[in-house]
Amino acid sequence: MRNLIILIFVVYLGLLLSCKPDHATKNTEAGFIADLMEQMTVEEKIGQLVQYSSKEALTGPEVSNKAVSIVNEVKQGKVGSFINVDGAQKTYDLQKIAVDSSRLGIPLIFGYDVLHGYKTIMPVALASASSWNEKLIKEGAKVTARETASSGLHWTFAPMLDVSRDARWGRIVESCGEDPYLTSVIAKATVEGLQGTTLSDTFSVAACAKHFAGYAFAESGIDYNTTEITEQTLRDVVLPPFKACVDAGVATFMSAFNDIGGIPCSKNKELLTGVLRDEWGFDGFVVSDWNSIGELIKHGIVSNRKEATIAALEAGVDMDMEGRCYKKHLKDLIAEGIISEEALNTSVERILKIKYRLGLFEDPYRYSSIQREKNEIYKDENLEVSEQMARESIVLLKNDESILPLKAEDKKIAVIGPLANDKDVPLGSWRARAEYNSAVSLWEGLQNRIGDTKKLQFAKGCSLVDEVVNYQSILNIEEEDRSGFAEAVRIAKKADVVILAIGEHCYQTGEARSQTDITLKGLQIELFEEIYKVNKNIVVVLMNGRPLDITAINDKAKAIVETWFLGSRSGYAIADVLTGAYNPSGRLPISFPRHVGQQPLYYAKKNTGRPEKLGSKSIYQANYKDNESSPLYPFGYGLSYSKFSYSDITANKESFSKGESIQLSIKVTNDGKYDGKETVQLYIYDPVASVARPVKELKKFKQVHLRAGESKNVEFLITEDELGFWHKHGGIYAEEGEFEIMIGANSQDLVSDTIRYNN
Ligand code: NOJ
Repeated sequence: MRNLIILIFVVYLGLLLSCKPDHATKNTEAGFIADLMEQMTVEEKIGQLVQYSSKEALTGPEVSNKAVSIVNEVKQGKVGSFINVDGAQKTYDLQKIAVDSSRLGIPLIFGYDVLHGYKTIMPVALASASSWNEKLIKEGAKVTARETASSGLHWTFAPMLDVSRDARWGRIVESCGEDPYLTSVIAKATVEGLQGTTLSDTFSVAACAKHFAGYAFAESGIDYNTTEITEQTLRDVVLPPFKACVDAGVATFMSAFNDIGGIPCSKNKELLTGVLRDEWGFDGFVVSDWNSIGELIKHGIVSNRKEATIAALEAGVDMDMEGRCYKKHLKDLIAEGIISEEALNTSVERILKIKYRLGLFEDPYRYSSIQREKNEIYKDENLEVSEQMARESIVLLKNDESILPLKAEDKKIAVIGPLANDKDVPLGSWRARAEYNSAVSLWEGLQNRIGDTKKLQFAKGCSLVDEVVNYQSILNIEEEDRSGFAEAVRIAKKADVVILAIGEHCYQTGEARSQTDITLKGLQIELFEEIYKVNKNIVVVLMNGRPLDITAINDKAKAIVETWFLGSRSGYAIADVLTGAYNPSGRLPISFPRHVGQQPLYYAKKNTGRPEKLGSKSIYQANYKDNESSPLYPFGYGLSYSKFSYSDITANKESFSKGESIQLSIKVTNDGKYDGKETVQLYIYDPVASVARPVKELKKFKQVHLRAGESKNVEFLITEDELGFWHKHGGIYAEEGEFEIMIGANSQDLVSDTIRYNN
């Protein structure tokens, strides 16, 4: 009997020990993680730092083609995360292996590049930034989070916050444009939309602030290129959107590919630890960009993957995306005492914390419900948000003789161009799981909105590219087929108005799509000219992912409508603007050049010692001698079918001191015939400071709806925050003195006032 009792006790104890730890029992985050980490072996800890990509969808060059049994690795707890595995079923299956078959059952975190929509595609970032509507952007991010989370994903590699000033750089399409303040506002809205009020909400996903940092400053606009960024520019221009993300509680960061002054970001301790953690208090984890740890070798900063591992971990990169460096070398480095187990623990803890906050230890399958996936993806209400964003993202650049909106007298409308009936290009280049050809084309949108389809005629005219492409192929633009010109000219001749959809293919933009030529490529200008010979009423609808040099058609086109890549409901949104159902309200988040030679081009430049003097004949001034130096269309610019005027700028006092504020007010009037929305922009200049300051910097903006004939006073509160800039000693503060405050419709059309700040 005694033996039986002992046997039962031993069996019971054995059962108890073989059970997975109950991850949900410890009720504090720190307690739970500490408890779990105590049970982890060094190999299991390293596993948490390893992220693999599914081979089916590589979003970077293959790092190793060695056959690895992913299933075995997961079973052994050697992988903590996957990229490019999505879908409720697939993530469920893989998660089940991790949870059921690995010793400690630690759930995987699934990440994916969901930049502007998962299946319901929102406008690309450069487009939605043109709406200057952070509430709507947040709404769009919420919808994106719902679809992403319902597809088994916990984490998106968004938002992309690289302040971008060079149109040659293909990834400018993923950015919010050239301005740090506008990008920061959008950064906050996007993180809040993606992450919701709590990460544990199953309709939210963890966001990732990328690419930290300076990636868009790639020299000559060549992707991945080196950067030379002064500390002042880094602090005042590059970093603010990232700081805004930390303040909004972003869960993760991604270290960028590029180097800054010779130090690649994945080895940059000053940035990843000094700034991000010590100064800003970021408590999530940092993932490398795709093999950016392994690429430290090619940068010429380490000689092998082992040294790369040391450099990246010591700098503060917690997770190795598809680089296979941590996986291969960390164990030896710890055994050799080169990397301490405490350093490893720090990274593990950060990753487990985010998994905990996502609720994955409570229920590892909470994101992987097939039923929920069916219910949530591509719903009408999701598409409606995309459509509203699309409408508000459109920027009217030109509208001579008020040719737009289309009129009842426009009895015949010719819809022409390589992009006029394209159902794929409007989806953009980072389109997650969008179905091929799933966008509403402009031609479809016009038919739907105009109804009387006898009014409309379509001809493609020419093609933009001469092969079918996907995001991994290089585009060929040797199109020489003019056989469609005749039909285009024939319908143009009979039309009252021609709507000509031209621009660039979505895969001419995006990662690794740098271009030296940013004009309208292929046969597009020739097609324009042929049409212009027979009809001068041309409305150009641009679809593109960068500010193009459109000078070849700018003077001749009567109207130009910038639509970027607007996503799933592109055609409806454009048709609403063309017909006047929606009064265009978008404003450029980036300057439009006159020539590629102006790049990088941005409004917040410094005055120099010899600023340009318009009208002066002196050659000794900072400008081009063969072209104007100004942009073709400036930052903040955009027309409406209404006309807005600005008057009566006033301040409630002339000066203010630290801790106080000053209120500025301006009267804005809608002098036009249509109700409309105006984006009132406030810029500041500090004309005498310890370092030369940009001649204007956007510091605030407000959107106001004004009925035809209506006026409103728009008020702005200015504090030290708006006047300050970064100082090597002392951080961000404002210097005493006078400041010029400029308010108006864009970065060029401004009325100004002077205020004084006493420190
Ligand atoms: C490289 C890109 O730079 C980054 O933005 C993306 O998240 C990763 N590839 C993963 O696809």
